[in-house]
Amino acid sequence: MVYITRIERFNAAHKLWVDDWSEEKNLAVFGKCSNKNWHGHNYHLHVTVKGRPDPVTGFIIDVKALSKIIQHEVTDHLDHSNLNLDVEFIPKGMQPTTENLVILIWDRLEKALESYPCQLHAIKLWETETIYAEYRGEK
Ligand code: NI
Repeated sequence: MVYITRIERFNAAHKLWVDDWSEEKNLAVFGKCSNKNWHGHNYHLHVTVKGRPDPVTGFIIDVKALSKIIQHEVTDHLDHSNLNLDVEFIPKGMQPTTENLVILIWDRLEKALESYPCQLHAIKLWETETIYAEYRGEK
């Protein structure tokens, strides 16, 4: 089994906030991500698929095709968006954390890759240089 990873980037705004909590509690739990007037992150999305190399092309998947799928299914929707307000596949009221986003991204890409011979292996979403969430489809 061979694993290959495509990296895509997007920029987006968000706010982590619970309406029922005080401003102080939101700040204590979410830190700067609770900023009332929004803020942005430069996200890096790592999508890893696995499979056996095709005997003719040597590819698990054509990475140009994988890039287009990621753009079409994910980054075209998220790039330059407000994650709390603008994205139809993020349920209203769901905190737009990296943890929640990797699950939503996995579900979209797993479906989009159904007709390809490779399997989705992992989604990693980097929110900053020091934090990323990873999801491998485990419930
Ligand atoms: Ni944030």
